[in-house]
Amino acid sequence: MPQTQHVGAERDRVDGPAKVTGHARYAAEFPVDGLLYGVIVTSSIARGRITAIDLDAALAVPGVVQIFTHRRRPESDWYKHDFSDDVAPPGQPFRALYDDVVHFSGQPIALVVAEEFGIARHAATLVKATYQAATPETDLQTVAHYTPPKARNGIAPPPARRGKAGDAPLRVEGEFRTPFEYQNPMELFAATAVWDGDDKLTVYDKTQGVQNGQNQLAKIFGLKPDHVRVVSHYVGGAFGAGLRPQYSLFLSAMAARALERPVRVVLTRDQMWSIGGRPATIQHVRLGAGPDGKLQSIEHDAVGSTSRYEDQQENIVNWSGLLYPAATTSLGYKLGKLDLVTPNDMRAPGAASGVFALECAMDELASEAGIDPVELRLRNYADRDPAEDKPFTSKELRAAYRLGAEKFGWGERNPAPRSMRDGHELVGWGMATGVWEALYVPHTARATLTADGKATIACAASDIGTGTYTILTQIAADALGLPMEDVTVCLGDSKLPTAPVEGGSWTAASAGTAVHIACSELIGKLLEQARRLNDSPLGAAGRDDVVLAAGRLQLRGDPAKFVTLGDALRAGGLDHIDAEGSAKPDQSVAEKFTANTHSAVFAEVKVDAELGVVRVTRLVIAVAAGKILNPKTARSQLLGGAVFGLGMALHEESMLDHRFGRFMNRNLGEYHIPAHADIHAIDIVFVPEQEDHLNPLGVKGVGEIGVVGTAAAIANAVHHATGVRVRELPITIDKLLPGL
Ligand code: MOS
Repeated sequence: MPQTQHVGAERDRVDGPAKVTGHARYAAEFPVDGLLYGVIVTSSIARGRITAIDLDAALAVPGVVQIFTHRRRPESDWYKHDFSDDVAPPGQPFRALYDDVVHFSGQPIALVVAEEFGIARHAATLVKATYQAATPETDLQTVAHYTPPKARNGIAPPPARRGKAGDAPLRVEGEFRTPFEYQNPMELFAATAVWDGDDKLTVYDKTQGVQNGQNQLAKIFGLKPDHVRVVSHYVGGAFGAGLRPQYSLFLSAMAARALERPVRVVLTRDQMWSIGGRPATIQHVRLGAGPDGKLQSIEHDAVGSTSRYEDQQENIVNWSGLLYPAATTSLGYKLGKLDLVTPNDMRAPGAASGVFALECAMDELASEAGIDPVELRLRNYADRDPAEDKPFTSKELRAAYRLGAEKFGWGERNPAPRSMRDGHELVGWGMATGVWEALYVPHTARATLTADGKATIACAASDIGTGTYTILTQIAADALGLPMEDVTVCLGDSKLPTAPVEGGSWTAASAGTAVHIACSELIGKLLEQARRLNDSPLGAAGRDDVVLAAGRLQLRGDPAKFVTLGDALRAGGLDHIDAEGSAKPDQSVAEKFTANTHSAVFAEVKVDAELGVVRVTRLVIAVAAGKILNPKTARSQLLGGAVFGLGMALHEESMLDHRFGRFMNRNLGEYHIPAHADIHAIDIVFVPEQEDHLNPLGVKGVGEIGVVGTAAAIANAVHHATGVRVRELPITIDKLLPGL
């Protein structure tokens, strides 16, 4: 970049004031005239058929306007054809109110629409469904396990087995389990649908992809895509739950069209368990090594849960072929179909679960070999991608181990379990490696500059709380030589330039590059105008010779030679100038290189020696993720990831009652997530990493890497503190106490 004033520097969130003053509007907050409220009624069985739905009592409630069910709803093309969305896995996606078949407990079976929310909520309790129930299967352990016949887009099946497992001198083996987890963003899924006639639709939705929702609505209602507008300016957390359009989107639009009034549908907290979440896994890891700790074989087999109607897939095991080289690598991935809603992508999908198992097994190997856990990883360091035998675009993981260990004070560790104490608490230190993909995907953006020197940046990406508004403001401000206050970023509107769903940690790199290019193109166009002036001081200048600074287009080496923005625009008779930019990944980079972010996670736990209560008193995460655009917002991302990982290690679990195929703890009182009292010191260390191949900004993204490895580091610390190895998450007192 020509000038770097803001990029790379700590900057406050530009959307902070709007959020803390309540001016930021979320999906259920847009004021709309004549609004009706829709409340969803859900199935109480997990599998079977609806035989009848008695609506009499609900319809008799004054203020109830209409109730929709599979027998009482408008026909739509959607119900006739196959359809999908941008991130749908192979299968037949669930369609709300399609027919009488129940696929999962909590499935929407009716929508009660009333003049007031309270009335709809009350009437919904009076809807009585009767069912012909079949026995649900929701136990991943007991269902058949199969290899998905069709790979999910973007999810590579495990590479073929390499080598033959011999008899390694050192062997460790374990079965690891991770439970169902749910994202539980603060903001509930909500959609407010407003029709203009019956062929133009606007929906205020909670989503990670406004254009994904736009395309789905256009297909469902047979509309031209540009007649559908989905708006999601602010998102109160999503963590992957908002990648796929949720049924609140369809139900609000369907009801609003039928009733010719705007309709708002907001899920209840309980219903947030009916939209996916992290699949449960059962994993087997076997490692074989020489006495020096050098890996000879890595075997990692995983089974993940999916629904009966879609083959949701994630990359759970491939990391095990990527992180460490071994002569023998055998990776396997299967699914088990359950009578539950299809899982979705939850922050660092696959890696969060798979790397937990691998990195715990590595810790067991370190104990077995009598080698320090960091040293073991250094001895097995992959300088090239061992699976594909390619170089990495950049990889400063070695530095991450070193800087993380220094910050943590790892050198003071006594390797013996139960060797450290603090009063009544056993102290444990553990570590793990984290890895995630560094994704860079096609993305567009537009930059507009007006004669008064104000810029507007626009693209359809959503800021899901990650800091997208802020980093795009920084990038544009630097590229256009403006203070950040003079740059306005518009996001989360499907009419803006094309963006993919915001996910996979790719938005900083992809939207950021698109904005950078759009600004550069804009300067090029401005130069064309400036050169048209008589005796233009920039008459001979090329695009690379000029920069824009303080409203002047000037020669890079000779700022006295300039044309003002106003003069340049006037030369062309313009009041503004704009340009589009596209991030276009270079396919040859993907062929030549492997691109990942990496981390080294260090954890200190204190475990009550009698009660088994675990506290994570310190976490240090050293992250190598290329260029950090804004250490303040990036640090927030990583802190959030660390807390996510801590929740995974100690708290989070959606518990099933297999008799009813139903999650029991469908509220934030019983689905435990870390509270403030669970969070102690967390240090984020940014490891310098020069990234020259992936994208022009050298950015890799930090939205997900903070989760990966954190649960393993904590589990390894718990083992070090107590001598007890818990291989099933979350690590709760009942699992720990018997061994204490
Ligand atoms: Mo992320 S799980 O791609 O929102």
